[in-house]
Amino acid sequence: MVSKALIAGGAGFVGSHLTDRLLDQGWQVTVVDNLITGFENNLAHHRDNPRFTFLQQNAEDAGHIDDTFDLVLHFASPASPPRYLAHPIETMHAGSNVTEALLRVAQRDGARFILSSTSEVYGDPSVHPQTEEYWGNVSSTGPRSVYDEAKRYAEALTFAFQRTFGVDTGIVRLFNTYGPRMDPDDGRAVPAFVKAALAGAPIPLHGDGSQTRSLCFIDDQVDGILALAASSEPGPINIGNPHEQSLLEIAELVIDLTGSPSTVELHPRPVDDPERRQPDITKAQALLSWNPRVDVVEGLTRTIDWFRTHEK
Ligand SMILES: NC(=O)c1ccc[n+]([C@@H]2O[C@H](COP(=O)([O-])OP(=O)(O)OC[C@H]3O[C@@H](n4cnc5c(N)ncnc54)[C@H](O)[C@@H]3O)[C@@H](O)[C@H]2O)c1
Repeated sequence: MVSKALIAGGAGFVGSHLTDRLLDQGWQVTVVDNLITGFENNLAHHRDNPRFTFLQQNAEDAGHIDDTFDLVLHFASPASPPRYLAHPIETMHAGSNVTEALLRVAQRDGARFILSSTSEVYGDPSVHPQTEEYWGNVSSTGPRSVYDEAKRYAEALTFAFQRTFGVDTGIVRLFNTYGPRMDPDDGRAVPAFVKAALAGAPIPLHGDGSQTRSLCFIDDQVDGILALAASSEPGPINIGNPHEQSLLEIAELVIDLTGSPSTVELHPRPVDDPERRQPDITKAQALLSWNPRVDVVEGLTRTIDWFRTHEK
């Protein structure tokens, strides 16, 4: 019998790649997405696949979908700072109401449930690199709290359903992921840098560019998420690439790889922007036998190639 997955947020960047991979593996996939930050076009190549269904609706109403599932993947939330700051209440609901609705579907169907959490639960970390045991340094009232605290609530709710009802749950904490299909206008560093470099425009850099990020290519991220889905590990498990670079280094690499005449342009640093980010992936290596395989030059080259051919 064909296994069935429900992917909330499947029209977004990460969700659309998960959709590709599960369809490739023979799954039947239902995507529920209200397109608040996603694009139906990200799934256009599956339109004629009889194992694929797209429902444009709020995932809060997932309980009304007339089907039963083996796997429920919760990847529905505005994810970039400009997007979640533009949709603060929807972002809180993505962590709260949507998480609860999807957990109830998993409970009803006896499905495995995977929550996409984030390195943002560590806030501006005082522990480096970040292990899953670190409790984080998060403001509950700052502008970014709508995202960070919604994810922390979603994690707590996920554990509450596991402890109370025995739902088979797993939490993945994604660290900055990049690749084809990122929205060039959603304010995340890689698409913003690539878009500017390809246009020969100034590359927008916040602060002095010394703050670090660790970039994980989307194919590696999908491998890690699906390894967690196939296991019975509850997590939380960090999935990210420990190769840490400053934003200035990343901007210079993009300029190099695109052969662009662009130069960097400094902008004010956003409030509560984290100083450093680097995942400790010991747990993912030990429990899921997962390691990132795509280095940043290959990943950025593939991303740049995609941006060259897919102007949104
Ligand atoms: N990309 C990253 O680097 C990263 C890092 C950490 C965590 N995450 C998490 O992974 C998930 C996916 O992120 P992404 O980068 O693909 O973002 P994205 O904005 O590209 O995708 C999110 C998708 O969810 C949809 N959505 C949002 N609220 C919804 C709702 N109530 N009902 C139905 N659909 C809804 C959006 O329309 C969009 O298609 C998010 O939960 C995000 O917090 C991503």
